[in-house]
Amino acid sequence: ERHDVVVVGSVNADLVIGVERRPAPGETVLGSDLATYPGGKGANQAVAAARLGGRVGILGRIGDDGHGALLREALADAGVDLAHLLVTDGPSGVALITVDTGGDNSIIVSPGANARLVPGDVERARPMLGGAAVVSFQLEIPIGTVQAAARTAAGAGARVVLNLSPPAPVPDDVLALCDPLVVNEHEAAFLLGHQGEPALLARELLGLGPRSVLITLGADGALVADPSGVTAVPSPKVEAVDTTGAGDAFTAALCLRLACGDGLADAARYAARVGAAAVRKPGAQSSYPGAGEELPA
Ligand code: RIB
Ligand code: NA
Repeated sequence: ERHDVVVVGSVNADLVIGVERRPAPGETVLGSDLATYPGGKGANQAVAAARLGGRVGILGRIGDDGHGALLREALADAGVDLAHLLVTDGPSGVALITVDTGGDNSIIVSPGANARLVPGDVERARPMLGGAAVVSFQLEIPIGTVQAAARTAAGAGARVVLNLSPPAPVPDDVLALCDPLVVNEHEAAFLLGHQGEPALLARELLGLGPRSVLITLGADGALVADPSGVTAVPSPKVEAVDTTGAGDAFTAALCLRLACGDGLADAARYAARVGAAAVRKPGAQSSYPGAGEELPA
């Protein structure tokens, strides 16, 4: 079976508490009831793309615990192909998340089973990776696995999209495959070693070797850049309830549109609307729009 998008990435249980403000070191604050949501940047992307109507597969690892069962079920409900969702003895990935009254989040990820997704797993998934139009990566799994899967995917003719989140060093040969490399301003600064005007950062990032670059600017939209130039893409204005996973929805929508043959700027315009839809509701996957749903414009 051919997939529009295959995601190689993390699957986490998100343990979320709402807070008025975050505690300083040594301080205790009271928060809301605990909510447990299916998350993980990889699984979020897979669910988002599947809900939008894509044929989607995932290569990832969950633990043999209760969280793992919840995570599998969420992916299955969205219609994601689970033939390469592998199970490891031990805990699933977990994200401890606080969301403040402005809808902003801070996240600590405990990789758990995600850390055990190894290059050998990539070998067995070769037919799925090679049959995808787009293969999408983030950085919550071992970098050696990202490298092996990106080489395999690109070698078989798939388009590689990498979201540098959370920021970490990436081998030059992987950067050179990215089309686009997707970063926010923090991640761009991490790669370049300095901050600056987004359009300048985009050009400098292209100099690091990717075929194209996309810088997400939150409520200010995004910039796409390739050797032919830089294009600004707006974001619809929405009331932010919870921004958790909005970037994952953005990247998933982008990948799906690229898989369907859109150009980068058109795909990014659609992705910005999907990302904006996701900030209007609590949680990550729980906030993603379905194919028939009206998107903010
Ligand atoms: O991007 C949001 C995601 O980051 C959360 O779902 C959490 O699991 C972490 O991976
Ligand atoms: Na949300």
